[in-house]
Amino acid sequence: MAKSSTKDDFTLTDNSTGKSYTLPALTGSMGNRLVDISKLYPQTGILTYDPGFSSTAACKSDITYIDGNKGVLMHRGYPIDQLAKHSDYIEVCYLLLYGQLPTPEQKEQFDTDIKHHTLLHEQLIRFYSGFMRSAHPMAVMVGVVGALSAFYHDKMDITDPNEQRVAAHRIIAKMPTIGAYAYKYSLGMPFPMPRNKYTYAENLLHLMFSNPAEDYDINPVLAKAINLLLILHADHEQNASTSTVRLAGSSGANPYACVASGIASLWGPAHGGANEAVLKMLGQIGTSRNIPKFIKKAQDPDDSFRLMGFGHRVYKSYDPRATVLRESCHEVLNVLGINDPQLELAMELEQIALKDAYFIEKKLYPNVDFYSGIIMSALGFPTSMFTVMFAIGRSVGWISHWKEMLMDDHHRIGRPRQLYLGETERKFNPMDKRGHTEKKTSWSWLWGGGR
Ligand code: CMC
Repeated sequence: MAKSSTKDDFTLTDNSTGKSYTLPALTGSMGNRLVDISKLYPQTGILTYDPGFSSTAACKSDITYIDGNKGVLMHRGYPIDQLAKHSDYIEVCYLLLYGQLPTPEQKEQFDTDIKHHTLLHEQLIRFYSGFMRSAHPMAVMVGVVGALSAFYHDKMDITDPNEQRVAAHRIIAKMPTIGAYAYKYSLGMPFPMPRNKYTYAENLLHLMFSNPAEDYDINPVLAKAINLLLILHADHEQNASTSTVRLAGSSGANPYACVASGIASLWGPAHGGANEAVLKMLGQIGTSRNIPKFIKKAQDPDDSFRLMGFGHRVYKSYDPRATVLRESCHEVLNVLGINDPQLELAMELEQIALKDAYFIEKKLYPNVDFYSGIIMSALGFPTSMFTVMFAIGRSVGWISHWKEMLMDDHHRIGRPRQLYLGETERKFNPMDKRGHTEKKTSWSWLWGGGR
């Protein structure tokens, strides 16, 4: 507890005892005021309750800043629209990892480093054949990225900055290869070798779509769109998957295993899986005539349906990534000469939702996933690969946060507390004494209520 308080500090009064406690205020370089509760429990025995961490900052970070009310997203101080316009993904990776935009020499060296880690160990490639061909590529990603930990563990000293750097480079380099092979495996096609003559985005296209029986010409429009998608997904501060990576890494776990845990978290439809869910939803809606019915469904508290690609925990205005993607969506479809009825339907849905009282009142705006699926579909990606693309782009964010956490002298194992609502102490009853005195247990949750 701070010994002397200032006018910026906070006072917590426990009405049950009448005691007051002074809690120090914290301020970042930008953004909200914070109250430091880290000493609250040791000094007062009081815990705080914040399910979903709506009001809790779990760490300090220099990487990404979001102002959700104004729709602002910056990486290391650079607004996302400027990075989207002027950068390439490799440059953004360097920025996130090392804190500065690279000089031309630094960029060339970094690019070369990444290119020298794109191949997969032959033994790792054998992992694929253990999966069903029909397996979801995100399931394959969780398994294969996690398996990297079996290849790069013995030498791994996670406190050594050089080893952290190599681990970060390996993750960024191998994710396109691992993701594209998940797709090729599902088709029963041979795995192409990565090509160092290509940029990161071009190589990803080559790995995904080339066929060894034919030449593959890179379409620059597609490469530009992939580059943009990767930049827009590169980092988003303490989202569910990044927090998962940090929590897993806080125990000192292997970084590849930590990234695999991030991929698992990303997969859910409330997070990165939403891009896949948006296209499925547009398919369900079918035609603009049905939009009002689905808007109504999304508002029904007794219906679990939500408008996928809408809403965000932090953004209470338009997601700036969606703004960039919306423009790019039209550009890509125009250049490719695609007249996509799903884009028309999505835009109509967006307009109706933005004028709807429920969506206005709850500040639900389109998020990045609303448009990313439409672009990826136009680029030829199957729906099941959308979240894989998100994972490839986000891998630099995960590993940058992992590295930042390990370099923070104050980092401790993440260990949240709980509000316990279970039984108070009970006396153990031997088996022959149980019966009517014991509470009946409902097993319906276990068997889905069917027995
Ligand atoms: N459609 C209809 N109602 C919604 C939606 C939606 N998409 N999103 C939120 N709401 C309602 C929700 O029912 C709740 O209503 P009430 O106050 O009456 O209970 C209110 O808005 C607040 O929602 P919440 O679930 O408490 O908010 P959250 O911050 O916990 O959830 C979210 C954020 C993104 C999970 C949620 O908005 C959602 O499920 N959206 C659809 C899935 C989606 O598009 N996810 C991608 C997120 S952006 C990219 C990423 O992170 O990967």
